[in-house]
Order: sequence, then structure tokens, then C-alpha cells
Amino acid sequence: MQHKVLILDFGSQFTQLIARRVRELNIYSEIHPYNSKKFNVSDYKAVILSGSPHSVRSKDAPHPDLSEIKGKIPLLGVCYGAQYLAYNFGGEVGASNSREYGRAHLTYLNHKELLFEGINEGSQVWMSHSDTISSLPSNYKMIASTEDVSNAAFKIEGEDTYAIQFHPEVYHSTDGAQLLENFLVKIAGLNQDWTPDSFVETTVAALKEKIGKDKVVLGLSGGVDSTVAAVLLDRAIGDQLYCIFVNNGLLRKGEFESVLEQYEGMGLNVKGVDASERFLSELTGESDPEGKRKIIGRVFIEVFDDESHLLEDVKFLAQGTIYPDVIESVSATGGPSATIKSHHNVGGLPDFMKLKVVEPLRMIFKDEVRRVGKSMGIDPELLGRHPFPGPGLGIRILGDITADKVRMLQEVDAIFINGLKKWGLYDKVWQAGAMLLPVNSVGVMGDERTYEKCVALRAVESVDGMTADWVDLPYKFLQETSNKIINGVKGVNRVVYDISSKPPATIEWE
Ligand code: XMP
Repeated sequence: MQHKVLILDFGSQFTQLIARRVRELNIYSEIHPYNSKKFNVSDYKAVILSGSPHSVRSKDAPHPDLSEIKGKIPLLGVCYGAQYLAYNFGGEVGASNSREYGRAHLTYLNHKELLFEGINEGSQVWMSHSDTISSLPSNYKMIASTEDVSNAAFKIEGEDTYAIQFHPEVYHSTDGAQLLENFLVKIAGLNQDWTPDSFVETTVAALKEKIGKDKVVLGLSGGVDSTVAAVLLDRAIGDQLYCIFVNNGLLRKGEFESVLEQYEGMGLNVKGVDASERFLSELTGESDPEGKRKIIGRVFIEVFDDESHLLEDVKFLAQGTIYPDVIESVSATGGPSATIKSHHNVGGLPDFMKLKVVEPLRMIFKDEVRRVGKSMGIDPELLGRHPFPGPGLGIRILGDITADKVRMLQEVDAIFINGLKKWGLYDKVWQAGAMLLPVNSVGVMGDERTYEKCVALRAVESVDGMTADWVDLPYKFLQETSNKIINGVKGVNRVVYDISSKPPATIEWE
């Protein structure tokens, strides 16, 4: 049995980070809202209580019953989790006199505590709280302080229960990973055996068991998630998996053919469906961004549904949903400060496709998806591809879409992307693409006046697409790319480079 950690979420913006740090220690962790009924405490070998935007003193703050956990399973309270462990068992928590945000240093720590093995006084920790623990219950022992916070860490005598006011999960807490490892490995005795290989092994076995002899249909997009999901399923059930790769006519130049060939080369049971004309004809005359998205989404479902009806007795629909999509769709507190995003992949099954859903990547993060893909031998180039939006070039052609505009933008995009690869810049950029603007501008070529299209190039760095900054690409590269585009793509006489960050701009122009 794989050892796992339960992270009880009270709505902190850092909860996902706790899970990531734990996974980086090769230990499997799961986040559940503190009030969820969907988990069984006895399945876990350690529990971490997250932070929260609430004050423990407030009536609507989370006040969970810990009777099945505290004193029975090794427990670590972080920030709100620490305050709750003090407040709920007879300690005092009050508003801080000074603001306690950002950097602090441990001025005292009890070196005898396993929690601090390998950590020294002076270690930087990150604080983010407005309440402070002014006194501890009688059987509690303070084990570390900072200049402003005397109860920066404490333990409960006779239990494997620890609590820290600071956030070990953020990178600015320099010894945070060491502290988590001390708690999970030295104190709670968890094995560090959560690796991509072990994930593949257990997932393939679980998929075999869940699916049996049934058939599964999966939509491949050319992106990392659906590809890795397909390869896992292929290992588990082979040709019982039917992959459908739809060409919506809005992919990059030559992408449909080359990715399809790559999928076939990987031995996947895949059918390429070229529905470009159907998409283009449905999009005729639509220039509103959301209108275009809706059409593309609807036609995709229609095409996919038509195709899956050609297969008999399909029982499952596989999706490449990943963990952030799942956690962002549930709220720990239901309160306004919790970050909530409903994601189209979760529960997004159209009514007329009455299939059971199978999501092999549901519990892992994007970087883990890549590591899993690598461990299964998927081409690194495929795994390192930039994200590409579902509606494709449809939301990079501002205004209405025509076949001519698609061809023009495909040419521009190919020059830009191939250039990034040639210059060794592709992997330094998180996402890049070109936008075809709905303006003509005057130019001169030879002795002729031109009145042609303008394209904008966009390259951003980001971690998750939520925030992004433009990339400082070398002028020489931009110069070469601009020349190639204007000389090589008929109908374009001007190239601009987008230097807007997100926020306030977004990555896509529509
Ligand atoms: P924005 O433009 O919102 O984009 O800053 C953030 C990330 O999301 C992608 N994106 C989409 N992906 N369907 C998708 O599948 C869409 O409608 C869509 N809109 C934006 C965008 O490419 C970027 O990676």
C-alpha cells in the first residue's frame, strides 16, 4: 500500500503548494476540503492542516472535529491550522499588534526536536497571518520563535502533533522542504516511493481493473495531457482504447498530419477526422470572441459524438483532466476569499454522451504529467510543447475567420515558432503565437504602395498561465523573424511585438 498524506484545506491560497512540496519529496498527497465526506482518515499516514483566509475567532471559520486525527495520526498544523490547534484546545489567539507578512527568521529553535533536524537558528521563514497565538494550552510546548512571534512552532506532549505559524510550503521559507521531510519521514515514517514509474504501474493496474473488457473513447488534442492519458490507457487496455483526433482547421501549419503520424508511430489506436470545412462553414460571419468559442466547442462535440457513435458498445469517455482542474473546482470554505474556478473538463460531459468518465491524470500536477510521460518514453519534443488553446487560431484571428486568413496566420505562426526553435529560444518561452489583426496599414514594397494586414507576435513566460510576462526576445531574432514574415507571407506588410503583461492584458488577444 502506498503511504499517503491528507491535506485538509481551509481555503488558503497556498494549499496547492503544500501538496506540490510533499510530492516533490516523492510522497503522495491529496487535498480535501476540511468538510468533505469523500475521504477516509484511516487511509492516510499523516495529516497536514492548511492555512486559511479566516480568523479562528470568527464564527463562520472552519472548526472541524479532529477527534479521529489528533493524537492518533501524525499531524502538522500550518498557520491557521496551528492557530486552530491552539485555540480549539484552550489556548489564546488574538489579533497581532504588528503586521506579520513576509520574511522572518527563527531566533530560537529547540534542536532536540526531530522537526528541526538540519535546520538552524536564523533560518528564513515566510509569515502571512493577522492573528497570533498568545498562549498555548497546558500540555503544549513552544519549540521555536521568531523576533515577533514567540509561538512560531509548538508540539503537543505525548502526541506526534506539531504546528508552525509560518508557511514551509513557499520557496521563501528556505528550509521548508527540510521541515516537511522531517515531519513526514522522520516523525510520521512515510516511504518516499511516489515516483513517475510507481504512478504508471499503479495507474495502469487500476485502469485495467476499472475498465475490464470495455471500450474507451478519448479525444486527442496534440497537447501533453491528452497524449499522456492516452499512452497510459494504451498500456492498460491496448486497442480497447479508441482515440479521435479532430482537425478543426484552426491548428498550426501541418500539425494535424504530423501529430497524427506521431500518434500512429506510438502505436495508439487513433483515427484522424478532418472536419476543417465543417468548422469553417459554421464560423462564417461570426466575429465575436465568445461566439466563436461557442461555435468551435459545439461543433467539436458534434463531430466527436458522430465519431463515437460509429463505435459500438463504448462504455467510457477518457479525459486528460489534471489535478489543478479538480481542486480549483471545489471550494474549501465556500467563502469569497477562496479561489474558485469552474473548469470545463470537470463534470463537462454533454448529456447525450451517456458514458462513464475515466480520468487517469486526475490526481497529478502538470509537471508530474510531463515526468510520467517521460518515464513512459514519450518523445520529449511532444512533452515540451507550448500550451495551445482549444479554439486554436480561431481566437488569434481577430474578427471573422476565413480560410484565407487561417492560411496566412499559419504561415506567420510557423515562421515565428520555427525561428524560436532554430534560435534555441523555444524552451525558454512558456507560450508563443501570432495574432492576425483586423486592420490594414499602409506600406511600401519596391515602388508600390501596399495596404495590407498587420500581425502581432506574442511570447510569454509563465508558470500556469494565470499571470504572465512578455519575453525579452533578442532584437536580432525579432528582426530576422519580421523580415521573413513580410517577405514570405503574402498579404502581411507589418509586424509588431506585444509587450503587455498579464494582468492587465491576457495571453490571447480574444
Ligand atoms: P488568457 O488569454 O486567458 O489565456 O490569458 C490563458 C491560457 O489559456 C489558454 N486559453 C484557452 N484554452 N480554450 C482553451 O482551451 C480557450 O478558450 C482558451 N482561451 C485561452 C491560452 O492559450 C493560455 O495558455
